[in-house]
Amino acid sequence: MPTAAITAPLRVVQITDLHLKTQPGSRLWGMDVDAGLNAVLERIQEKHSDADFILATGDLVGDEPEAYERLRRLLGSLGLPVYCLPGNHDFPAAMSRAFHASQVRCERHVVVGGWQFVLLDSSFPGTPKGHLAYGELAFLDTLLATGADLHTMVCLHHNPIPSQTSWLDTMMVSNHAALFAVLDRYPCVRAVVWGHIHAEFSAQRNGVHLLAAPATCVQFKPHAPGPQVDERPPGYRWFELDPDGTLHTGIERVTL
Ligand SMILES: [Fe+2]
Repeated sequence: MPTAAITAPLRVVQITDLHLKTQPGSRLWGMDVDAGLNAVLERIQEKHSDADFILATGDLVGDEPEAYERLRRLLGSLGLPVYCLPGNHDFPAAMSRAFHASQVRCERHVVVGGWQFVLLDSSFPGTPKGHLAYGELAFLDTLLATGADLHTMVCLHHNPIPSQTSWLDTMMVSNHAALFAVLDRYPCVRAVVWGHIHAEFSAQRNGVHLLAAPATCVQFKPHAPGPQVDERPPGYRWFELDPDGTLHTGIERVTL
C-alpha cells in the first residue's frame, strides 16, 4: 500500500529559560519564575493543545538539579512530548536522569512530518559561555549528511550570532564559525533556534532562519550594555512547519 503524502503542517512550541528552583515562588531579577512558567503553560494548553511537541531550549532549572523532578511534573501536565536540551544553568547528567523514560525527555534527534530536529548541547562545565564540543559538531554533521532529504531545525541554548546585547554576546557560542561551516554544507537546514538571551530575536542568513524565543521568566532589555530587566511579559515561540520546508513562526506573550 502506498504511503500517504504528508500535507498537514507540524506544530511545535519552543519554551526557554525557565530557571525553575526547588521551592515554588522563587525569584529571578525580581520576577516570580513559577508565575511566568504557569502562565505560559496555561496559554499553551489553551492555544496549542494540538502541538506535535514542545521544545525546551535550556536553562530549565536555576542552578538546582533537584528542581528537575518538579519540572518534570509541571511539563508533564501538558500531555505532550517535551524534548529538552541543557543551558548554562543546567546539569546535563542530572537532567537526563530525571527525564529518563517520561514524556519529558532529552531526545537528541527527532524525525517527524518530513522534518528533523537536532538538539545540541552548547553548555560547557564551569563557564556560562557557549561552546560546541567536537562531538556535538560531528553528531550534527552526520545527521545532516544522512538526513539530507529532511528539512532540518538545529536547536541549542546559546546564541550562535551576536544578539546586539553586548553583555550577553560575551557568552555566545565561541566556535560559531565551526558551526556555520557545517551548516553551510547542507541545503536542508531551514532554521537554527536558541534561548539564552531572554528576548525575542529574528534574522536570516543564506535563507536560514535564525531565531530566539523570550524566556518564560524575566526578560532582558535588548541592546542594553549590562543586564537590565525588560518589562515585557514572559512568552514563547510557536512554529508551523510545512512539509515543503516552509516555516511560519510567531511570538506569544502572556499577561501576569
Ligand atoms: Fe537563561
